[in-house]
Amino acid sequence: MADLSINIKKLLFKNPVLTASGTFGYGEEFEDFIALNKLGGFITKGTTLKSREGNAYPRVHETASGMLNAVGLQNKGIDYFIKTTYPIIKDLNTNIIVNVSGSTIEDYTAVAEKLNALEKIPAIELNISCPNVKQGGMAFGTSCKSAAEVTKAIRKTYKKILIVKLSPNVTDITEIARAVEAEGADAVSLINTLLGMAIDAEIRKPVLSTVTGGLSGPCIKPIALRMVWQTYKAVKIPIIGLGGIMNAADAIEFFLAGATAIQIGTANFIDPQTSLKVIKGIENYLSKHKINSINELVGKLSIE
Ligand SMILES: Cc1cc2nc3c(=O)[nH]c(=O)nc-3n(C[C@H](O)[C@H](O)[C@H](O)COP(=O)(O)O)c2cc1C
Repeated sequence: MADLSINIKKLLFKNPVLTASGTFGYGEEFEDFIALNKLGGFITKGTTLKSREGNAYPRVHETASGMLNAVGLQNKGIDYFIKTTYPIIKDLNTNIIVNVSGSTIEDYTAVAEKLNALEKIPAIELNISCPNVKQGGMAFGTSCKSAAEVTKAIRKTYKKILIVKLSPNVTDITEIARAVEAEGADAVSLINTLLGMAIDAEIRKPVLSTVTGGLSGPCIKPIALRMVWQTYKAVKIPIIGLGGIMNAADAIEFFLAGATAIQIGTANFIDPQTSLKVIKGIENYLSKHKINSINELVGKLSIE
């Protein structure tokens, strides 16, 4: 059987399939539906320094081929995570990556510092791309200067694997990727959601309480794929690709475009077993094409 394992620096993943932040809770919620130890890893909901209620309802809306959300980083805060959630999940045999969100650089660094001390958390994913919060969030990810500043500050504090999650709501994502690479990011994840909106024409009002929200699902896959391909040519660090991956065929496209690993997001809401089916499908593809290791596929798009 082909070797599905990948590395980000010294961190080994048994396979390249992770679940995406905000679509998989803290893993424990999915334990009854899926064997978590089969995953390459899972990424927790965005976790902030203080607990957050999130935005007012309605904050989720189904669209053609995708969904809009404006959850607004609802979570119980890092201290709750450390005290209550971490002891429950820490011994799962998979990589647990905490998605770190914040409004200020100080917030981000305080959370990262606390996570640095947790033995069973080998990596964090820095969310500088959330479109659903008024302060911070995407604001950090849409300029090279602020993306670099926050990455630099975290890099000083956080000694383990640092993944920075990028926003697609920019003119040129490769510039942001280069900026965070230069400040010590070990990998980048792309993409977060695209800013969108929905209108209820009968009442002439926006559907979401926040007017705009983040678009995810199959409708964003072509954009995500294009951004992974562009970024692959721009940086040397590994790329974790996501955006609308629903099955193994979608995942294979991301590897060919240059992703070392992928994440499953919105698809978890349709079928929580999607990631395991994707792993199986990747195995089948590799064996059909007589490829020994998933690493051989990365960036192998032929454009002649
Ligand atoms: C309901 C919901 C909540 C999300 N919350 C977060 C979050 O807390 N932090 C984050 O970095 N991304 C968050 N995301 C973005 C996803 O992790 C992912 O980047 C995006 O949905 C695109 O992938 P997909 O099309 O496979 O869902 C959220 C997405 C959804 C749909």
